[in-house]
Amino acid sequence: MEKNLDIIEVLKTYKQNHVINLLNKLEAEEKEELLDQLSKIDFHQIMELYDNTKKEIEFKENKIEPISYLDKAKLTKNQKEEFERLGEQIIRSGKYAVVTMAGGQGTRLGHTGPKGTFKLDVYGKGKYLFEILAENLKEANKKYNTSIPWYIMTSRENNPETVAFLEKNNYFGYNKKDVIIFTQKELPLVDTEGKLLIGKNNKIKEASDGNGGTYSSLRESGSLADMKERGIKWVFIGGVDNVLLKMADVSLLGMAIKNKVQIASKSVVKANPHEKVGVFCKMNGHPKVIEYAELPKKMAEEVDKNGELKYGESHIMCNLYTIEAIEKVSKEPLMYHCAFKKNSYMDENGKEVIPEEPNSYKFESFIFDAFEFFDNIAILRGNREEDFAPVKNKEGVDSPKTAKELYEKFWRTNSNILIER
Ligand code: UD1
Repeated sequence: MEKNLDIIEVLKTYKQNHVINLLNKLEAEEKEELLDQLSKIDFHQIMELYDNTKKEIEFKENKIEPISYLDKAKLTKNQKEEFERLGEQIIRSGKYAVVTMAGGQGTRLGHTGPKGTFKLDVYGKGKYLFEILAENLKEANKKYNTSIPWYIMTSRENNPETVAFLEKNNYFGYNKKDVIIFTQKELPLVDTEGKLLIGKNNKIKEASDGNGGTYSSLRESGSLADMKERGIKWVFIGGVDNVLLKMADVSLLGMAIKNKVQIASKSVVKANPHEKVGVFCKMNGHPKVIEYAELPKKMAEEVDKNGELKYGESHIMCNLYTIEAIEKVSKEPLMYHCAFKKNSYMDENGKEVIPEEPNSYKFESFIFDAFEFFDNIAILRGNREEDFAPVKNKEGVDSPKTAKELYEKFWRTNSNILIER
């Protein structure tokens, strides 16, 4: 009884009367479930995030500079050999783990189901995105005579389907004991008046809290403890949708070791000033990525004296950390960004509304916001044709068509490193 009263008071304070109305209509069991969900929501945080949606992001107050990087194509023979030797040692000795962030919705692609279950039409019979990643890791395992632990982050929404898919496909031949699946957290969706959206199941509608949730979810799921138990020293975190992602890049790893940094990342040169990628820079002396949606136009187009984009190093979600770095950032709260999206909801009369225009805010933290907690990052500039073929949109740029072309071209010219294709 007391619990009910408390929650009703909280709902009144935060002007969520539509939720009180819903509670009054529900039968005992459903009411209990909703009360339980409400008791876990941090209303203060959600309303703060909602208030922030009205503020513009300003970088003016901050000192922003281009970031330095090493170009892989310009490494000397000695540098290259040294990096590879250092990186290889770590992987061979079982101190390297990989995390795949697979909690995203993949709405832009128009694929129903987890993005990793999307089949790219390559070589006639096609390959699933998860299959491409598994092959990449199996190749590294064979080359370095090891079995790299593979942690896969799902969302609450896509977890059951992801697990069933991987089981059905026998983890694409990956050692099952080295595949660890964990789930990220969620945050409620709110409409333009700050009201929580209600879903078909008479619960508050929630969605994944962004890929910045990877660090704390690694910790809370016990995966970080598992890594430590396995003696892992370096952790690679990558996305699910880049079919040229190199998950065990010894040059990147060796460069990080040689430079004695806690974090490192692979970049490629931005294709054009308005490509939808985050760009690296330094803000107030710390490494930072500014996401495409938040990059001021002037900064996007700024060129240096050689005519090259000043902020042209793209973040391709190819990030590397020491285990200590993961431990550190898993305890730090990251800022939330907001995205204005279309989300269906139940109105006051219990009727489902499917909006045609964006109607609600989704709050997400970004993986790269953790970079600011460090003084330095080592960036290795890779090569688009070798490192970056994302599957994002149904058609046009970064679509299955462009990814297929890049994937097949890469493997045509690198067939010597092909194992079982
Ligand atoms: C992302 C990067 C962007 C980069 C681009 C390169 C972020 C915030 N943005 O943009 O800087 O230039 O890729 O392709 O990282 N994910 C989760 N949980 C979530 C949200 C996303 O696991 O709650 C995963 C997705 O499954 C995917 C990755 O994070 O693997 C990227 O997410 P997405 O939202 O598609 O980011 P982009 O807009 O493509």
